Amino acid sequence: MSTPTNAERMEKIVSLCKRRGFIFQSSEIYGGLNGLWDYGPLGVEVKRNVKNYWWQVLVHERDDIVGMDGAILTHPGVLKASGHVEGFSDPMIDCRACKAHLRVDQLIEKQGVKQCPNCGGKDLTEARQFNLMFETHVGATSDESSIAYLRPETAQSIFVQFKNILEVSRKKLPFGIAQIGKAFRNEINPRNFTFRSREFEQMELEYFCRPDQGMELLEYWKEERLKFYENIGISRASLHVRNVPDEERAFYSKGTYDIEYDFPFGRQELEGVAYRTDYDLSQHQKASGKSLEYFDEETKEKFIPHVVEPSAGVDRTVLALICDTYGEDQAPNDKGEMEARTVLRFHPRIAPIKCAIFPLLKNKEQLVTKAKEIVGLLRPHMNVFYDESGAIGRRYRRQDEIGTPFGITVDFETLGEKDQTLRETVTLRDRDTMKQERVAIQDLPAILRDRIA
Ligand code: GAP
Repeated sequence: MSTPTNAERMEKIVSLCKRRGFIFQSSEIYGGLNGLWDYGPLGVEVKRNVKNYWWQVLVHERDDIVGMDGAILTHPGVLKASGHVEGFSDPMIDCRACKAHLRVDQLIEKQGVKQCPNCGGKDLTEARQFNLMFETHVGATSDESSIAYLRPETAQSIFVQFKNILEVSRKKLPFGIAQIGKAFRNEINPRNFTFRSREFEQMELEYFCRPDQGMELLEYWKEERLKFYENIGISRASLHVRNVPDEERAFYSKGTYDIEYDFPFGRQELEGVAYRTDYDLSQHQKASGKSLEYFDEETKEKFIPHVVEPSAGVDRTVLALICDTYGEDQAPNDKGEMEARTVLRFHPRIAPIKCAIFPLLKNKEQLVTKAKEIVGLLRPHMNVFYDESGAIGRRYRRQDEIGTPFGITVDFETLGEKDQTLRETVTLRDRDTMKQERVAIQDLPAILRDRIA
């Protein structure tokens, strides 16, 4: 089998995502809306597993981080103070030949002349700033006074609620506030499948600290975040850390790392880890007139905390997981002949379905009844799938393609027809090694829970 090129690989991934119900184009039956995606039955499970694991390791397993869930519609004052109303824009150019709107960094250059990447046209407009925020109106009037924005990042509601959360949680520095939620950006050219979308989800942590702790915590969070990606099954070799140079960093940031991943369309940012100093809280204190200072009981000092922000994209993480785990290899069919198989080698923690359960034959009532009993036994512990149609090899193949790590087959030995010692046992198949082992039904919840964690 020849190795697919990166473009072919990406095409296969997009097609698999649609065919098996991970990701669909939004409003597809109306021709679709560019840059917007809907997650299907399997995609939503992967997304939830990513978000739940992020929440588990950052909020539930630590004493120093609490969560929040802020509103999407945002007061214009918040986004004026944060600098988004003035400056959250990309320079845009139009191609007069094909009428495309282009981000300046997307132009191609041939012999020193800038050209449109779509039609090669050289008749381009001057660059102008295009604000990426979606604006709407709140209430019955539609004028300047009713403007609100769909938040372009989740971070700002964390800064704005800093004082309330500090008071109710009674945390001492350093401590963090975590949030997962939707963000909206009217990207000029959404592209590379879900990578650059107009509506997406972020997982953001604002970790507040004393000024002298900022640089050290920047290193700490970079390492923690790399561990997270490894723990959800992204190979370390495909992850890279870019130390963002001074000229590319926001003026208030003393240090920023981009965690990048080798997507089939190139090495691109998965997450930014930024030391933002006291910029955000200072801006909101100035604009709102409300104190956002922290009082240190021990030193009796009052100051505005600094912040380190690991900010990750849920959709980009899901896409990286699918790209990283997508594989094509050979597996035996029911006759023992090798056949091509497509497989998603998801970490069991992330797999949308943890275990598939098959009766060997669908027309043998005892096999079907026993398989359904096992479904009932496992369902309280994990997401399982029952399938009785087709040859057993085909059923395995369908599960391999969506990344189900374990398959259980109920056969005649389960019923004790050949050997009484095998009664109440099943075969447990591992997706990656394709090895099968015989295990007692009663041990299944513990064995599988252990392997998933
Ligand atoms: N609060 C900081 C912040 O929002 P960012 O680098 O603009 O920083 C953080 O965004 C993360 O959000 C990115 O690393 C990426 O994973 C995700 N993200 C940003 N824009 C996106 C888009 N248009 N589509 C999908 N994900 C996006």
